[in-house]
Amino acid sequence: MTPYDAIVSKRDTRNFDGRQIPEDVLRRILQAGRMAGSAKALEPVQFVVVREQGQKEALAACGNFTPHLPPAAAVVALVLEPEMGVVGAPLTHFRGPFDAGRVAQNMMVAAWAEGVASCPASMHQGEEAAKALGLPEGYVVANTIAFGYPGETEETRPSRPRKPLDEYVHWERWDAGA
Ligand SMILES: Cc1cc2nc3c(=O)[nH]c(=O)nc-3n(C[C@H](O)[C@H](O)[C@H](O)COP(=O)(O)O)c2cc1C
Repeated sequence: MTPYDAIVSKRDTRNFDGRQIPEDVLRRILQAGRMAGSAKALEPVQFVVVREQGQKEALAACGNFTPHLPPAAAVVALVLEPEMGVVGAPLTHFRGPFDAGRVAQNMMVAAWAEGVASCPASMHQGEEAAKALGLPEGYVVANTIAFGYPGETEETRPSRPRKPLDEYVHWERWDAGA
Protein backbone atom coordinates (compact mmCIF):
# COMPACT_ATOMS: atom_id res chain seq x y z
CA MET A 1 0.00 0.00 0.00
CA THR A 2 1.43 3.42 -0.91
CA PRO A 3 1.18 6.19 1.68
CA TYR A 4 -1.45 7.88 -0.49
CA ASP A 5 -3.51 4.68 -0.75
CA ALA A 6 -3.31 4.19 3.01
CA ILE A 7 -4.49 7.75 3.63
CA VAL A 8 -7.41 7.76 1.21
CA SER A 9 -8.63 4.23 1.97
CA LYS A 10 -8.51 4.60 5.75
CA ARG A 11 -12.01 4.76 7.21
CA ASP A 12 -12.82 4.98 10.88
CA THR A 13 -13.72 1.46 11.89
CA ARG A 14 -15.58 0.51 15.06
CA ASN A 15 -15.85 -3.24 14.62
CA PHE A 16 -12.91 -5.40 15.63
CA ASP A 17 -12.38 -9.13 15.33
CA GLY A 18 -10.87 -9.71 18.77
CA ARG A 19 -7.32 -10.50 17.62
CA GLN A 20 -4.50 -8.95 19.60
CA ILE A 21 -2.05 -6.65 17.84
CA PRO A 22 1.45 -8.15 17.88
CA GLU A 23 3.89 -6.18 20.01
CA ASP A 24 6.14 -5.22 17.08
CA VAL A 25 3.18 -3.89 15.08
CA LEU A 26 1.92 -1.93 18.07
CA ARG A 27 5.36 -0.46 18.66
CA ARG A 28 5.56 0.68 15.02
CA ILE A 29 2.20 2.40 15.40
CA LEU A 30 3.44 4.19 18.54
CA GLN A 31 6.69 5.05 16.81
CA ALA A 32 4.75 6.62 13.91
CA GLY A 33 2.95 8.79 16.46
CA ARG A 34 6.18 9.76 18.18
CA MET A 35 7.70 10.91 14.88
CA ALA A 36 5.01 13.55 14.27
CA GLY A 37 6.42 17.04 14.39
CA SER A 38 5.17 19.48 17.01
CA ALA A 39 5.09 23.26 17.35
CA LYS A 40 8.51 24.48 18.51
CA ALA A 41 9.41 20.77 18.74
CA LEU A 42 7.96 20.78 22.26
CA GLU A 43 6.62 17.22 21.93
CA PRO A 44 3.71 17.87 24.29
CA VAL A 45 1.89 14.58 23.58
CA GLN A 46 2.45 11.34 25.49
CA PHE A 47 0.64 8.05 25.14
CA VAL A 48 -1.06 5.69 27.56
CA VAL A 49 -1.60 2.29 25.94
CA VAL A 50 -4.57 0.44 27.40
CA ARG A 51 -5.08 -3.26 26.74
CA GLU A 52 -6.67 -4.48 29.97
CA GLN A 53 -10.41 -5.04 29.61
CA GLY A 54 -11.29 -3.21 32.83
CA GLN A 55 -9.29 -0.15 31.78
CA LYS A 56 -10.86 -0.10 28.32
CA GLU A 57 -14.29 -0.20 29.93
CA ALA A 58 -13.33 2.54 32.37
CA LEU A 59 -12.36 4.78 29.44
CA ALA A 60 -15.54 3.88 27.54
CA ALA A 61 -17.52 5.18 30.52
CA CYS A 62 -15.88 8.60 30.05
CA GLY A 63 -17.19 9.27 26.53
CA ASN A 64 -20.61 9.53 24.92
CA PHE A 65 -19.90 7.52 21.74
CA THR A 66 -17.55 4.79 22.87
CA PRO A 67 -19.01 1.29 22.28
CA HIS A 68 -15.97 0.52 20.11
CA LEU A 69 -13.50 0.87 22.99
CA PRO A 70 -14.11 -2.35 24.97
CA PRO A 71 -13.83 -4.66 21.90
CA ALA A 72 -10.68 -2.94 20.61
CA ALA A 73 -7.35 -4.74 20.93
CA ALA A 74 -5.72 -1.59 22.29
CA VAL A 75 -6.84 1.91 23.13
CA VAL A 76 -4.22 4.61 22.98
CA ALA A 77 -4.92 7.75 25.00
CA LEU A 78 -3.14 10.85 23.71
CA VAL A 79 -2.22 12.94 26.72
CA LEU A 80 -1.30 16.61 26.57
CA GLU A 81 1.02 18.29 29.02
CA PRO A 82 -0.42 21.04 31.23
CA GLU A 83 -1.34 24.28 29.43
CA MET A 84 -1.28 22.58 26.01
CA GLY A 85 -4.93 21.60 25.82
CA VAL A 86 -6.61 24.49 27.58
CA VAL A 87 -10.26 24.87 26.68
CA GLY A 88 -11.17 28.48 25.98
CA ALA A 89 -7.74 29.54 24.73
CA PRO A 90 -7.75 31.44 21.43
CA LEU A 91 -7.74 29.05 18.49
CA THR A 92 -4.35 30.40 17.36
CA HIS A 93 -2.88 29.16 20.66
CA PHE A 94 -4.21 25.66 20.15
CA ARG A 95 -0.88 24.11 19.34
CA GLY A 96 -1.32 21.15 21.65
CA PRO A 97 -4.51 19.77 20.09
CA PHE A 98 -3.03 20.32 16.61
CA ASP A 99 0.07 18.40 17.67
CA ALA A 100 -2.11 15.63 19.07
CA GLY A 101 -4.04 15.49 15.79
CA ARG A 102 -0.82 14.99 13.87
CA VAL A 103 0.18 12.18 16.22
CA ALA A 104 -3.25 10.57 15.91
CA GLN A 105 -3.33 10.58 12.13
CA ASN A 106 0.25 9.29 11.88
CA MET A 107 -0.66 6.38 14.13
CA MET A 108 -3.92 5.56 12.37
CA VAL A 109 -2.43 5.67 8.88
CA ALA A 110 0.63 3.63 9.90
CA ALA A 111 -1.71 1.11 11.54
CA TRP A 112 -3.95 0.87 8.47
CA ALA A 113 -0.93 0.26 6.23
CA GLU A 114 -0.42 -2.91 8.34
CA GLY A 115 -4.10 -3.89 8.26
CA VAL A 116 -4.95 -2.52 11.69
CA ALA A 117 -8.16 -0.47 11.75
CA SER A 118 -8.94 2.35 14.17
CA CYS A 119 -11.38 4.99 15.29
CA PRO A 120 -11.00 7.91 17.68
CA ALA A 121 -13.22 8.19 20.76
CA SER A 122 -13.66 11.53 22.49
CA MET A 123 -13.59 11.67 26.26
CA HIS A 124 -16.52 13.95 27.04
CA GLN A 125 -15.92 13.43 30.76
CA GLY A 126 -12.31 14.50 30.53
CA GLU A 127 -11.60 14.70 34.24
CA GLU A 128 -12.91 11.19 34.76
CA ALA A 129 -10.73 9.93 31.93
CA ALA A 130 -7.67 11.60 33.45
CA LYS A 131 -8.50 9.90 36.75
CA ALA A 132 -9.01 6.49 35.14
CA LEU A 133 -5.56 6.80 33.56
CA GLY A 134 -3.90 8.11 36.71
CA LEU A 135 -2.64 11.27 35.00
CA PRO A 136 -0.68 13.81 37.03
CA GLU A 137 -2.33 17.14 37.88
CA GLY A 138 -2.96 19.35 34.85
CA TYR A 139 -2.46 16.68 32.19
CA VAL A 140 -5.46 16.18 29.89
CA VAL A 141 -6.63 13.50 27.50
CA ALA A 142 -6.72 15.08 24.03
CA ASN A 143 -8.45 12.03 22.61
CA THR A 144 -8.31 8.27 22.58
CA ILE A 145 -7.97 5.94 19.60
CA ALA A 146 -9.26 2.37 19.44
CA PHE A 147 -7.10 -0.02 17.38
CA GLY A 148 -7.81 -3.55 16.24
CA TYR A 149 -8.11 -5.83 13.24
CA PRO A 150 -11.37 -5.11 11.42
CA GLY A 151 -14.33 -7.37 12.14
CA GLU A 152 -16.77 -8.63 9.55
CA THR A 153 -20.01 -7.23 10.92
CA GLU A 154 -21.47 -4.08 9.46
CA GLU A 155 -20.26 -0.74 10.74
CA THR A 156 -22.41 0.77 13.49
CA ARG A 157 -21.80 4.16 11.90
CA PRO A 158 -21.12 3.87 8.19
CA SER A 159 -18.57 6.15 6.56
CA ARG A 160 -19.91 9.18 4.85
CA PRO A 161 -18.61 10.51 1.54
CA ARG A 162 -16.55 13.68 1.81
CA LYS A 163 -17.59 17.05 0.45
CA PRO A 164 -16.31 17.66 -3.08
CA LEU A 165 -12.74 18.94 -3.23
CA ASP A 166 -13.90 22.31 -4.59
CA GLU A 167 -15.82 22.90 -1.36
CA TYR A 168 -12.66 22.38 0.66
CA VAL A 169 -10.15 24.29 -1.39
CA HIS A 170 -9.77 28.01 -1.92
CA TRP A 171 -6.88 29.14 -4.07
CA GLU A 172 -4.84 32.20 -3.09
CA ARG A 173 -7.74 33.92 -1.29
CA TRP A 174 -11.01 32.73 0.25
CA ASP A 175 -13.08 34.86 -2.12
CA ALA A 176 -11.00 34.48 -5.27
CA GLY A 177 -13.17 33.54 -8.24
CA ALA A 178 -16.36 34.26 -6.34
C1 LIG B 1 -11.55 14.50 17.07
C2 LIG B 1 -12.42 13.33 16.71
C3 LIG B 1 -13.22 12.75 17.68
C4 LIG B 1 -14.02 11.66 17.36
N1 LIG B 1 -14.76 11.08 18.34
C5 LIG B 1 -15.50 9.99 18.05
C6 LIG B 1 -16.26 9.34 19.08
O1 LIG B 1 -16.26 9.76 20.24
N2 LIG B 1 -16.95 8.24 18.75
C7 LIG B 1 -16.97 7.73 17.46
O2 LIG B 1 -17.62 6.72 17.24
N3 LIG B 1 -16.28 8.34 16.46
C8 LIG B 1 -15.54 9.44 16.74
N4 LIG B 1 -14.82 10.05 15.74
C9 LIG B 1 -14.83 9.50 14.39
C10 LIG B 1 -15.66 10.34 13.41
O3 LIG B 1 -17.01 10.13 13.63
C11 LIG B 1 -15.21 9.95 12.00
O4 LIG B 1 -13.91 10.46 11.80
C12 LIG B 1 -16.08 10.46 10.90
O5 LIG B 1 -17.36 9.90 11.03
C13 LIG B 1 -15.51 10.10 9.51
O6 LIG B 1 -15.39 8.71 9.41
P1 LIG B 1 -14.93 8.00 8.05
O7 LIG B 1 -13.51 8.38 7.78
O8 LIG B 1 -15.07 6.52 8.31
O9 LIG B 1 -15.85 8.49 6.97
C14 LIG B 1 -14.04 11.14 16.04
C15 LIG B 1 -13.22 11.74 15.07
C16 LIG B 1 -12.42 12.80 15.40
C17 LIG B 1 -11.55 13.41 14.33
